[in-house]
Amino acid sequence: MKRVAVLGVTGSIGRQALEIVESHPELELAAAASGSQPIDGVAPLTQVGGDLTELLERAQPDVVLNAVVGFAGLPATLWALERGVTLALANKESLVAAGELALQARERGGGLLLPVDSEHSAAFQCLEGRTPEQVDSLVLTGSGGPFRGRTRDELEEVTPDEALAHPTWRMGPKITVDSSTLANKGLELIEAHFLFGLPYEHIEVVLQPTSVVHALVRFRDGATLAHLGYPDMRVPISFALTHPERTATPIPPLDFSQGLVLEFEQPDLETFPLLALARRAGERGGTFPCAFNAANEVAVAAFLEGRLSFLAIAATVEETLAAVAGAPARDLADLFEADAEARRLAEKELVA
Ligand SMILES: NC(=O)c1ccc[n+]([C@@H]2O[C@H](COP(=O)([O-])OP(=O)(O)OC[C@H]3O[C@@H](n4cnc5c(N)ncnc54)[C@H](OP(=O)(O)O)[C@@H]3O)[C@@H](O)[C@H]2O)c1
Repeated sequence: MKRVAVLGVTGSIGRQALEIVESHPELELAAAASGSQPIDGVAPLTQVGGDLTELLERAQPDVVLNAVVGFAGLPATLWALERGVTLALANKESLVAAGELALQARERGGGLLLPVDSEHSAAFQCLEGRTPEQVDSLVLTGSGGPFRGRTRDELEEVTPDEALAHPTWRMGPKITVDSSTLANKGLELIEAHFLFGLPYEHIEVVLQPTSVVHALVRFRDGATLAHLGYPDMRVPISFALTHPERTATPIPPLDFSQGLVLEFEQPDLETFPLLALARRAGERGGTFPCAFNAANEVAVAAFLEGRLSFLAIAATVEETLAAVAGAPARDLADLFEADAEARRLAEKELVA
């Protein structure tokens, strides 16, 4: 019996995680948390907002599924890693902001860090059992979002509703906007760097518009392994929650009877600058990825509230990154400071 804590239980990932837990007798929902929506009775222990590590202390779960959105998920990520409690991580922002600290905590705790992000779950599976010397490079795939193929001029007037109409995935609003700007692929690039210990120059992003190929790993002998499947988050959620069993899900494997065409293309880094900005922030290291994430969170929230245009999301992040000092991320205090500074600067950029 695995006792699971689902953080972000009211969200897109959280609700799908509940479905997986309910369909597996060997999984027990020990605790659940949301940010503000009431969740009375969902689990024996619940918490709405506040410091989620208090809930985790009370629940002492075997697995934490962190599906909180944004930097707010960081304390729970570190709580699980520090204690060697298996962490099923959907909350990529925490690993982006605190990658080095998270890896140190995992080292001390000695537990499992299982990615829930579909691309990283796929890469994890392609990499399982390989040594670092065998690996040439990792290819993260992305759909390109609803605005793939558009020019900058065509993006001047796009609305939140248009950005929220993702072609292949149904997700929460923040990650859906991130997918439309390619910031999500940028966050995933940094996430992959920390998860798999690969230098940035060995991680490539390509677009695969139907989201059937989730990741590819190239090996030194010329072989490339790919992970394919229909785009459905219940597969990586189930993989992480039932690891290493890989239990059944309601999603069928690929059907080739009607044929299957796979097309790949390069992302347009000029029209969607957030991917290159994320790469640069990742390469600079220290508190830069944290600042990238914070500025992006501020800009996306302002866009969704109608206070910022679509193209100004990237401009806000770029200006913020140009203005932050950047420093080594030695402890959590450094990160909270970097996060707060970037949020302050980004808010100023919004009104400038
Ligand atoms: N959705 C996907 O398919 C997908 C795929 C890959 C990765 N991810 C990642 O998974 C995470 C969740 O995404 P999502 O799409 O499920 O988001 P979502 O639908 O917006 O749900 C977010 C969840 O986080 C909770 N929350 C927000 N702020 C919180 C806080 N301060 N403290 C505690 N809980 C808080 C929300 O609670 P309330 O409802 O009470 O606000 C909600 O349960 C993100 O990091 C995202 O990048 C998602």
